[in-house]
Amino acid sequence: MSNKPKLSQFGSVDPAPPRVDGEIKDWEFTLTDNETPMFQRMRNVFSLRNKGTNEACLALCTGFESDSALLRHEVAYVLGQMQNEAAIPKLVEVLGDENEHVMVRHEAAEALGAIGDYTIRPVLEQYVNHPLPEISESCEVAIDLLDWCKSKEYDEVEG
Ligand SMILES: [Fe+2]
Repeated sequence: MSNKPKLSQFGSVDPAPPRVDGEIKDWEFTLTDNETPMFQRMRNVFSLRNKGTNEACLALCTGFESDSALLRHEVAYVLGQMQNEAAIPKLVEVLGDENEHVMVRHEAAEALGAIGDYTIRPVLEQYVNHPLPEISESCEVAIDLLDWCKSKEYDEVEG
C-alpha cells in the first residue's frame, strides 16, 4: 500500500490532510493561533474548504488575520478552489492591501478569477498596471479567465 498523500476532491494533493469530522469554530480558532503547529493549522484550512458551506467560507476568511503569510496565502488559494461568492468582499480587500504580502495578493486575484463573478472584472482592471508583476499578471490572468468563461469557446467545452 502506498503511503503517498491522497488526491483531494479538487484534484490537488493538499500539503496537510483535511479532517473528516470536527467543528468549524474549532478549526477557525487555530487559523490565527500561533501556538498551534502549522501542520495542524493547515489541516484545518483544508477541513474548512471541504466543509464547503458559507459558514466555513467566512471562517476561512478570518484566516487573513493570521500572522503567517504562508497560511494567508493558502487561505486565498483554497477560497479559489471553493468558488463561494461569500469570500469576494474579503478577497477584494486583500488584493487592494498594499501592506499585504505579494504572494497573498497574487492568490487573492486568482481566487477572484476562479470564483467566476463577472461583476468583479472592473476591480481586477484597477491592478493590471500595478508595479508588482505578481499582482498585475495575476489580475490579467483572472480577467482573461472571466472573459474566457463568457466566450463561445467555453460554450463549446461545456457542450
Ligand atoms: Fe499561486
